[in-house]
Amino acid sequence: MYTAHPLRYENGMQYNRCGQSGVLLPKVSLGFWHNFGGVDPYERSREITRYAFDHGITHFDLANNYGPPYGSAEETFGRLMDDDFRPYRDELFISTKAGYDMWPGPYGNWGSRKYLMASLDQSLKRMHLDYVDLFYSHRYDPETPLDETLQALVDVVRAGKALYVGISRWPLEATRTAFEYLRERDVPCLIYQGRLNLLDREPQREGILDLCREAGVGFISFSPLAQGLLTDRYLGGIPEQSRMSKGKTLRPDMLTDELLGQLKAWNAEAASHGETLAEMALRWVLQQGVTSVLVGASSTAQLQENLKCVGLRG
Ligand SMILES: NC(=O)c1ccc[n+]([C@@H]2O[C@H](COP(=O)([O-])OP(=O)(O)OC[C@H]3O[C@@H](n4cnc5c(N)ncnc54)[C@H](OP(=O)(O)O)[C@@H]3O)[C@@H](O)[C@H]2O)c1
Repeated sequence: MYTAHPLRYENGMQYNRCGQSGVLLPKVSLGFWHNFGGVDPYERSREITRYAFDHGITHFDLANNYGPPYGSAEETFGRLMDDDFRPYRDELFISTKAGYDMWPGPYGNWGSRKYLMASLDQSLKRMHLDYVDLFYSHRYDPETPLDETLQALVDVVRAGKALYVGISRWPLEATRTAFEYLRERDVPCLIYQGRLNLLDREPQREGILDLCREAGVGFISFSPLAQGLLTDRYLGGIPEQSRMSKGKTLRPDMLTDELLGQLKAWNAEAASHGETLAEMALRWVLQQGVTSVLVGASSTAQLQENLKCVGLRG
């Protein structure tokens, strides 16, 4: 039986307002992309999630295809709800997404109304939830009319299956259209999810971050540690069981000598301030005015280190 830490809101976590909405999100949120699938040990996923919630992390981010296998991170989450978190449902802000390949055939991918509606229904079943707090279009679909995707987002809110909607990885002009479309229908876009970290500053260059600020939409940064590159994980080689050793979303050829040199220089800079590289990298993202950094972790020790960026120690 799990009882959440009684001091979970008094141990230092800070919360940012998400754009001009009523929602506050923790400065550090937890993502379920890796480490929560059917291939991962349930007890470890459970320990990380408990640790997160006990330290004020109220926002958990999922997607239909997180695993592996696809769907299994949501199933893990459903089990966690049953085992530990049901009594805390109203303290949690849970997101899921649809946009990438999920099931075979023409209706299991991209941005049609057909796909988004069916996918959210499936996600709710896997997660053992009546509704999610936030549903995202996971990517821009150049073939589907924007209105169709956006109206589907409006309608999932009207149907009570999501409280808020967001978009992820949409290009600038389509994002502008989305913000306007959704606002005109009284379902304003809550948040944009994009990758911003010391190695990838595209949302700043492209103007997405400025647009979010002007439109009163939040911004949450995924992969703020560049999947572990912006930590000490790879400074002395490629450890067994690391994400890079699995070679799927982070491959050894990405770690060039030039990049390793840059990481070592940043690591030395962080050490000279008494910080770790992970701490410095996350603090940098938060300083860019984002609502939250959306980290991943394969152990509670990693999460513990990452929470140092908001002053949480221990
Ligand atoms: N919208 C999108 O398209 C999209 C895309 C990607 C991600 N996301 C979201 O963003 C979340 C986070 O993405 P991410 O997992 O790539 O984030 P990340 O925080 O950049 O990377 C997490 C990985 O870095 C390593 N790590 C983390 N903290 C560490 C530490 N203190 N010391 C050493 N290594 C550490 C771990 O890898 P090891 O496994 O090697 O231990 C961990 O699994 C995802 O779960 C998902 O919710 C969204």
